[in-house]
Amino acid sequence: MQNNTDAGARAYNPVTLKLYDWWVLKISNQYAWRCPTDTVLLPHFKAHAGDNHLDIGVGTGYYLPHLPATVELSLMDLNASSLQAASAKAGHRVKDHLQHDVFKPLPQSWHDRFDSISLFYLLHCLPGSLNDKALAIDNIARALKTEGTLFGATILGEGVAHNAFGRKLMNVYNKKGIFSNRPDSAGLLKDVLTARFERVDVKIEGTVALFTASGRRD
Ligand SMILES: C[S@@+](CC[C@H](N)C(=O)[O-])C[C@H]1O[C@@H](n2cnc3c(N)ncnc32)[C@H](O)[C@@H]1O
Repeated sequence: MQNNTDAGARAYNPVTLKLYDWWVLKISNQYAWRCPTDTVLLPHFKAHAGDNHLDIGVGTGYYLPHLPATVELSLMDLNASSLQAASAKAGHRVKDHLQHDVFKPLPQSWHDRFDSISLFYLLHCLPGSLNDKALAIDNIARALKTEGTLFGATILGEGVAHNAFGRKLMNVYNKKGIFSNRPDSAGLLKDVLTARFERVDVKIEGTVALFTASGRRD
């Protein structure tokens, strides 16, 4: 599985990132995934971001300017264009950023450092099954303080009812390797998180799982 970890990052370049907020956050979230950005995803982001927060899989950085000005931000992504777009959007609050593949162990200096880490629409882009993606979650969890919170959102392929628009996008994106989420279900996500954290919550909105996990098991 591990030979193509950048497939879900390659799609993001200055041109696609210009269209991203409109196509993904406005149109697709509302009509394909039935999980609206402003009334569901943004409140989830704001509710769980702590004082020293790391966003991984930053895209355009849409959510970041909505956090209180006191929040210190760090950014991580495999894709340099995404990091650049998100840094520009978040401005002076960005304390640190790292171009990094989550399937590789994080540098020691990023361990035990953050109150919270967000993974919004990252997991469905990662290749393999949720058990394969668990390796990335293991790497990411090292960056949390012991009582820190991991939270995020991911589009599911299994156990949810996709509409015609959603099925079309699922087919195209999975064929191109932009998504790898056909077997991803809320139950599997909960199992992977529960094996690593003491407190886990997974809720479904439309075809999206909204999750939080805290109390890292070491
Ligand atoms: C769909 S975008 C999500 C953007 C934003 N978080 C949102 O919710 O709208 C996925 C992001 O994850 C990044 N990404 C994909 N695979 C990655 C990997 N293996 N390691 C780190 N980042 C990755 C992509 O470059 C892209 O910026």
